[in-house]
Amino acid sequence: AFQPRVFSGVQPTGNLHLGNYLGAVSRWVPLQDQMPAIFCVVDSHAITAGFPDPSELTNATREVTAAYMAAGIDPKKSIIFNQSQVREHMELAWIFNCVARMGWLNRMTQFKEKAGKNKENASVGLFAYPNLMAADILAYRATHVPVGDDQKQHLELTRDIAAKFNNDFGARIKELGIGVPNPTPSPELPEELYFPLTEPMIAGPATRIMSLRDGTKKMSKSDPSDLSRINLKDDADAIAKKIKKAKTDPDALPSETDGLEGRPEADNLVGIYAALNGMSKDDVLKEYGGQQFSAFKPALSDLAVAKLAPMTDEMRRLTGDPAQIDAILKEGAENASAIAEPVLKDVRKIIGF
Ligand code: ADP
Ligand code: NA
Repeated sequence: AFQPRVFSGVQPTGNLHLGNYLGAVSRWVPLQDQMPAIFCVVDSHAITAGFPDPSELTNATREVTAAYMAAGIDPKKSIIFNQSQVREHMELAWIFNCVARMGWLNRMTQFKEKAGKNKENASVGLFAYPNLMAADILAYRATHVPVGDDQKQHLELTRDIAAKFNNDFGARIKELGIGVPNPTPSPELPEELYFPLTEPMIAGPATRIMSLRDGTKKMSKSDPSDLSRINLKDDADAIAKKIKKAKTDPDALPSETDGLEGRPEADNLVGIYAALNGMSKDDVLKEYGGQQFSAFKPALSDLAVAKLAPMTDEMRRLTGDPAQIDAILKEGAENASAIAEPVLKDVRKIIGF
């Protein structure tokens, strides 16, 4: 059977925000006690939308590493490293460029959003990004990938790539004796696989945190409005101000039975409260249903500050010692390479290199 293994990552581009924390990083913490886990700072993805200032990129990589640790990722339990330091990601990505079809990538909605109107001017790297993401995951034959809802389509592509590779080289994988029995046999796949069909883990009340300014857009690092997101580095005043200014409708919060349907802004704020406090949205409505936003928003600010302030302090402490962070990343890269190298050796054998 495939060794159960978690893999996930965040790009070191600008500010880490509440969406990254609630949709991804906070959910990784309990997983590191359940199975081997690898958490990557995906710096090779961070150059797809234009090369950032080099020293800012280096610092952003350290900052995301500090955020992982401040959130509770323990480098003694989990591997923490940055993508560019393990060359197997690049090698496997090239091979996957030759597995994935143009038509598959043409369907990726994130490319359409990120490339905007001028697609001819987007980098080839931005277009091929999902193939690199598949390589990130499959270089470790990872079985579980906890991410936010926006990554669902990319994870489906990862499964499509794994399936095509397993099929195209099915006989060869069997002949080399390096296959793993398919845990969920199906007529579409050979009996033995080399790559697992990775499970997306997209769950909880915060799979898609929306912008505080516009309920139709997700909270994102690239939103030009700083009021749209709560950054992990925001202080208590900034958090309170942003929540106070968050766009809402004029009605009171609905009861649990009325529910949040058709109330996107309320849904978003209730989801944030629920995720921060480890409860369900229904539980939040049981407590706050019928109350005005003028009462709920201060409670939400207090909760957000109570949860985020200790993390912000810890991030600041950790980034004060860049050499320590670099040492953790270096050790992580060595441990990650030790897993990815033999996988790439197999892959080279499979394809005849
Ligand atoms: P961003 O989308 O802000 O540039 P990344 O692409 O680096 O951030 O995403 C890192 C992780 O954070 C991914 O698992 C992604 O699904 C998750 N994520 C990003 N934005 C949100 C959001 N608004 N709500 C929930 N999860 C999110
Ligand atoms: Na994203």
